[in-house]
Parts: sequence; structure tokens; C-alpha cells
Amino acid sequence: MPNSWPSRYRTSVTFRHALAIVVCLAWTTSANSAQDQPGTEPYQRVCQACHGELGKGDIAPPLVPGRFDPDYVLAVVREGFGQMPPISTRELTDDEVRAIVSYLASLTPEKPPVASTETIR
Ligand code: HEC
Repeated sequence: MPNSWPSRYRTSVTFRHALAIVVCLAWTTSANSAQDQPGTEPYQRVCQACHGELGKGDIAPPLVPGRFDPDYVLAVVREGFGQMPPISTRELTDDEVRAIVSYLASLTPEKPPVASTETIR
């Protein structure tokens, strides 16, 4: 008979449900923010294996921080660059490459605190 269960037990079931809801909400929120940039998915699918999570670099050099010209990146992606193999339009559309450039720019602070070598010389 549920009514004869100790109230402590009923409270803990409710608490666990509340906890599960909070955990789900937190997960949904973080998943949404990762999807804010349309370039996130293509980056993770194609570039991340070499350039690392969030463009931080792995077996290939980091792409963040950096401001890349979309046409330059498109040329690098289509023709290859040094050790980087060319990637065809079957794997990645031009629009996806441009979205990736915006995604990488979004990971770079507006004004990177980099001392220019020009002023040091
Ligand atoms: C198979 C591994 C690999 C993949 C996949 C890959 N890259 Fe690269 N990428 C490299 C390597 C290695 C270099 C450095 C080449 C060198 O300097 O000889 C490089 C260099 C670059 C550069 C030139 C950076 C500079 O200094 O000018 C850009 C831009 C770049 N990659 C963008 C991308 C993008 C965007 C993607 C996904 C569409 C991607 N790469 C996928 C391996 C990869």
C-alpha cells in the first residue's frame, strides 16, 4: 500500500525526479549553444580529427586564435596545403567551408592580445 510507505521514501523519489529534470535541462542548454554556429557540425565531422577540438590543434596546427579569409580557407581545403590533403565537394560544400570559417572566427576573441612583431622591431 503506497500510503503506508515512509514519507522519507516518497520525498526521495520526488527529489530524484527533480534532479533528473535539472540534469536534462542543463544538457539541452549546452547542446543548443554548441549548435549555435552552423559551422560546428561540419568542422567536427571533417576538420576536428586533425585540427583538434575547438580548433586548438592536434596533429595539424591550431586554427584558433586566427582570422582566416574564407577564400583562402576554401583554396586550402580544395587544393590541400603541405601535409593537409585536399577535401572534395562531396565531403564538404563551399557553404560549409564558409560556415566553418565563421565558426573558427567565433572561437577567436575580437582583439587577440598579441604583441605585433612590427612594434617590437
Ligand atoms: C588529414 C588531416 C587534416 C584535415 C582533415 C584538415 N586539415 Fe587543415 N591542415 C592539416 C595540416 C597537417 C596542415 C599544415 C600543413 C603544413 O603546414 O604543411 C593544415 C593546414 C591548414 C590551414 C592552413 C593554416 C595556415 O597556416 O595557413 C588551414 C586554413 C586549414 N588547414 C583548414 C582546415 C579546415 C577548414 C579543415 C576542414 C574542412 C581542415 N583543415 C582539415 C591537416 C588537416
